[in-house]
Amino acid sequence: MRAVLPAVSVLFALALTAPATAQRANSSTLASAAAPATGTPTFYADVLPILQQNCQACHQPEGKNMGGMVAPFPLLTYEDARRYAGSMARAVGTGRMPPWSAAAWHKGTFENERILEEDEKATIVAWATGGAPAGDPAAAPPTPDFVVAVANSDGWSLGEPDLILSFAEPYCMSDDDQDIYVNLPVQLTAEQLPADRWLSSVEYRNGPAIHHILGGVGGLVPGAEPRAYDQGYGRVLRAGTRNLIFNMHFNKEPGPGTALCTNIQAGIRFKPEGEVITHVTDGEDLYIRPIQIPAGASSYSASREYAFEDDVEILSFLPHMHLRGKAAQYEITYPDGRHETLLHVPKYDFNWQHTYRFAKPVFAPKGSVLRFTLWWDNSENNPNNPDPSVDVEWGLPTYAEMSQGYMSFQYLDEVHHVVGEPIPSNLRRAPENESN
Ligand code: HEC
Repeated sequence: MRAVLPAVSVLFALALTAPATAQRANSSTLASAAAPATGTPTFYADVLPILQQNCQACHQPEGKNMGGMVAPFPLLTYEDARRYAGSMARAVGTGRMPPWSAAAWHKGTFENERILEEDEKATIVAWATGGAPAGDPAAAPPTPDFVVAVANSDGWSLGEPDLILSFAEPYCMSDDDQDIYVNLPVQLTAEQLPADRWLSSVEYRNGPAIHHILGGVGGLVPGAEPRAYDQGYGRVLRAGTRNLIFNMHFNKEPGPGTALCTNIQAGIRFKPEGEVITHVTDGEDLYIRPIQIPAGASSYSASREYAFEDDVEILSFLPHMHLRGKAAQYEITYPDGRHETLLHVPKYDFNWQHTYRFAKPVFAPKGSVLRFTLWWDNSENNPNNPDPSVDVEWGLPTYAEMSQGYMSFQYLDEVHHVVGEPIPSNLRRAPENESN
């Protein structure tokens, strides 16, 4: 596989050689760190709030990543940030960080969006080039709840899980390995889950070198943060033995002595007995099949429709393609004829499997029709394309393409299920889908 990211990083590095050098010169007077030149932003007052809101969900210490997205170093403290000051300035200046792929006009739509304002980018750049001063710790904003929870936990910020799923064997990378994309099964057995249960939360604790995971059954879909179901809201994890396929991207620096083995832990908590579920959350994998992407095609597209048979509120979308993925779009036509684009991803990036969670769930009355469209670039102009000379079909391996979009929603009908009582089988109206 051609590794693309390193080449890109080299470009960034070249572009910023000059400022990085200047910065090193400045910081030789490190005494000035606490008393910066007037006007230079400081870590505690100016930079930390930006990191808390936009970076810390992923940039946590190793073993404390709660989601499916794992950054290689923490950005919690002044020491953390100062070490990476130049690199942060580059990453935000180029728009590489924070990673987010929804079209710009969606701003404000998604609860988990991470978008830096121009003045926030400028603050980080000015701070880095101004010697990365600490400033006054008293000016620091309070530590966000999720950071405190993660810091005080052994990696399970929501408490000890009831069930932990891992790969049967750790996944091992050799010294030479750098980027590996692979699908690995996690087996869920009837012994582990003898009866259907209501999910309360799912979070991940990941070993080193894991860049992202895209999860097994709907309820386990990893985002950057844990997925917790509010009181009264629940989703069923059905009992029974099956394989949950996790779509993995492993990434590390190659070189002598860098070989390692790694694994994931998906920590699942169930709802306590007696809680009353009033709203059922569910999900649907929207597959588009078959696909036949001709060799060299720069903008092959395929789409499908999905008709809602109940009144629901759409909670999130997660489009998924492989290395030739180019763009994704979800449109809806309501029964009254109104038409709306709910999510447009103009530049899909396989390296960032984002779940787009609506800040305000989208009401889709019965009879609404969702149209889901994906585009692929199988030309040689796509730098991620492993082989522009072949026709590509649907398949799990990374050399093939996938064409699916996960959607989660909750039914509007109020129900009354008491946790602990047998869970009826007709609860889940969408057809069962267990192969991812
Ligand atoms: C969704 C998770 C996520 C968020 C949010 C995020 N990062 Fe990252 N970051 C990563 C991952 C993963 C990497 C590893 C590099 C890669 O694989 O692309 C990374 C790498 C970096 C690097 C190393 C240089 C580089 O470009 O690869 C810097 C610096 C960085 N992030 C800064 C930030 C800053 C600053 C923010 C907030 C403004 C931020 N990140 C938000 C996941 C995240």
